[in-house]
Amino acid sequence: MSRRRAAEARAPGKLILFGEHAVVYGHPAVAAAVDRHTTVRLERIAGPTRLLSATVDDARLLPALATVLPPRGIGVHLHTTLPVGRGMGSSAALAVALVRALAALEGRRADVEECVRRGFDIERIFHGTPSGLDHTVSALGGAVRYVRGQPPAPIPVAVLPLVVLDTEIAGDTDALVAGVRARRPAVDADLAAIGALVDAMVPALARGDLATIGAGMNENQQRLRRIGVSSDAVDALVDLARRAGAAGAKLAGAGGGGVVIAVAPDPAPVLAAAARRGVPAFAVEIRSPRDPADDPATGTEGPAPPG
Ligand code: MEV
Repeated sequence: MSRRRAAEARAPGKLILFGEHAVVYGHPAVAAAVDRHTTVRLERIAGPTRLLSATVDDARLLPALATVLPPRGIGVHLHTTLPVGRGMGSSAALAVALVRALAALEGRRADVEECVRRGFDIERIFHGTPSGLDHTVSALGGAVRYVRGQPPAPIPVAVLPLVVLDTEIAGDTDALVAGVRARRPAVDADLAAIGALVDAMVPALARGDLATIGAGMNENQQRLRRIGVSSDAVDALVDLARRAGAAGAKLAGAGGGGVVIAVAPDPAPVLAAAARRGVPAFAVEIRSPRDPADDPATGTEGPAPPG
């Protein structure tokens, strides 16, 4: 049987359109894969498994790799076009890309079930007790309505003019989730209202009804503020986007910094306003339905080095 000596795979990051934090407590959320990715290349090498190159510097990387890779014989290259630690699912994309690349090295293809199951073990290294939303969306691609513990439901989402604005501050997901947990039950009504808002937004997302989606984002953001996960930097970018004509804006991900998403009938003035203030911002394309190009695992045949 031929033995692959190298393999490469990638997986997309995601944006949570509605429902972060509430999803941890069993409420629905809607998230969509984006056109930015983490790529993993694996090579058979002599000696211990190790990181050969990475565009990410994170102490949790090695334990994360050890979750699925053998202790010896694999060299790893990591590359991501996602802003790291900003709520766009760079760790989830790494988890899924790693599972895909390992399967490709073994000469097979990882299906969604395997990516979700093994990817969750890797996500737990990064985030303790995540809801599973991030890596599930990365594995499935497209847009998904997700309830913890239930099979994810792919949903249609119209092409949306979305702008991502980066606070350039990494939010600490574990601490933010723990903070919300500590504020329960006082925040339970807001968490439930966020869950109800998610389901009200599903048909608006399918229609591409920007006014309704924008109003929904504004309400979601207000409730995220009330549960204590917004920040001055987030609020400033939400305000900037709205003043520049966005129909609505909210933090996306765990908060405490991270990115803000804005839905804007005309993204140009939002991007221009961000540029004037020196705020990194970019238009983003969400993936709905799933894009097969998000899963192009490839392998290189050939003898592995001894060792
Ligand atoms: C983080 O991207 C989303 C949170 O809802 C946490 C989780 O779902 O695990 C804040």
